[in-house]
Amino acid sequence: MVAVAALLTGTGLTAAPGAAPRMAHGHGYPADRIADEPTRRFTLTAATATVRVSGRDVAAWAFNGQVPGPELTATVGDVVQVTLRNQDIGRGVTLHWHGYDVPNGQDGVPGVTQAAVLPGEEFDYRFRADQAGTYWYHTHSVSDVGVRMGLYGVLVVRPGPVTGLDVTVPVHTLAGLALPAPRTEPVAAGTPVRMRLINTDSTTHRYALAGTAFRVAAIDGSDLRGPTSLVDTAVLIPAGGRYDLVFEAPATPVALLVDGRAVFSTGPVSTATGGWPVLDPLRYGAAAAAPWSRYDRTFTLVLDRGLDLRGLLPRYAHTVNGAAAPDIPSQVVHRNEVVRFRIVNRSQVVHPWHLHGHHVLVLSRDGEPATGSPLWLDSFDVRPGEVWVVAFRADNPGVWANHCHNLAHADAGMTLHLMYS
Ligand code: C2O
Ligand code: CU
Repeated sequence: MVAVAALLTGTGLTAAPGAAPRMAHGHGYPADRIADEPTRRFTLTAATATVRVSGRDVAAWAFNGQVPGPELTATVGDVVQVTLRNQDIGRGVTLHWHGYDVPNGQDGVPGVTQAAVLPGEEFDYRFRADQAGTYWYHTHSVSDVGVRMGLYGVLVVRPGPVTGLDVTVPVHTLAGLALPAPRTEPVAAGTPVRMRLINTDSTTHRYALAGTAFRVAAIDGSDLRGPTSLVDTAVLIPAGGRYDLVFEAPATPVALLVDGRAVFSTGPVSTATGGWPVLDPLRYGAAAAAPWSRYDRTFTLVLDRGLDLRGLLPRYAHTVNGAAAPDIPSQVVHRNEVVRFRIVNRSQVVHPWHLHGHHVLVLSRDGEPATGSPLWLDSFDVRPGEVWVVAFRADNPGVWANHCHNLAHADAGMTLHLMYS
């Protein structure tokens, strides 16, 4: 409880300036682990490695020697157990299930839900696969460096057996080189195709699917309601975000371009996609009534840049309400409250916002209500000058990181916590 008080005030026991909020000792983390026997088991070993990208040898931090790490797949109903081992990553590793609303003790935030796993140590994660969709995992220990160096991978939970072609496209920049390597795979006309687009970088990417009409079936793991057919339209995926595009393979080739680079195709396609309009997800699909008519609590987060004078040396930080981590007060909610966040970007750069443990429903952007399908997001870009209002039910008790997913920003102050009291 002492540690909780420290988080609550944002100061207290935190020793080093700039350090993540810590529990008082290396124990006392909530277990929150389900007792059921696992039906899917994986082992991920983090280690320094040399990987080959576009014909070059690149120094990386890898899970099981590969970047991205192995793709973890499960079917709804599985109990997933992942053993994380750290071979030689001196700064420690954890696994965070980005977009997967696991119990707090499995969330992988060092100093908050567990201690970082140091070289020679291991940690077992266990959770129930009850949300179908496209997710990813990554280390949350010195996450800016760790993710950039390659400690990430895909997590896909399917509702049942795969029908047709189901491809994952986790985009990443490793040592300045673009992943994944381009791939061509012919597909029979009429085959149902699902492309799971994942942005594991810290900045927005633009994706364009050329040669076919398609629908956006899901965003951030949640199915959209009434998605309509799109053609010659690009999508912008924020850092950490996922879009599932679906279509029936036409007789002619199809290509997926990321920032103009073909990463997946079914044959040669030559289309200029740079001038395509960009989909606005707030106006796409069929609306439904909001699940709540009143809100118990509203928090405002003003994102800005500013001088942080609290450490030994002043530093230029990314701030929330004028403060930088670890000095941003936690937001405290009670279980089952319906909570609203008003996120105001007063800075000159995009902040991809990411709350752990919950999906938020987008209510409005710049005062204009979202009019499309209900959008349940875990990662969304708040652009300079924008104001987003989102809401969620506080139904997953614990202490949850709430931060910018430009991980350099998160490390430079833009991290706070949501707590249940
Ligand atoms: Cu994808 Cu707190 O992170
Ligand atoms: Cu940011």
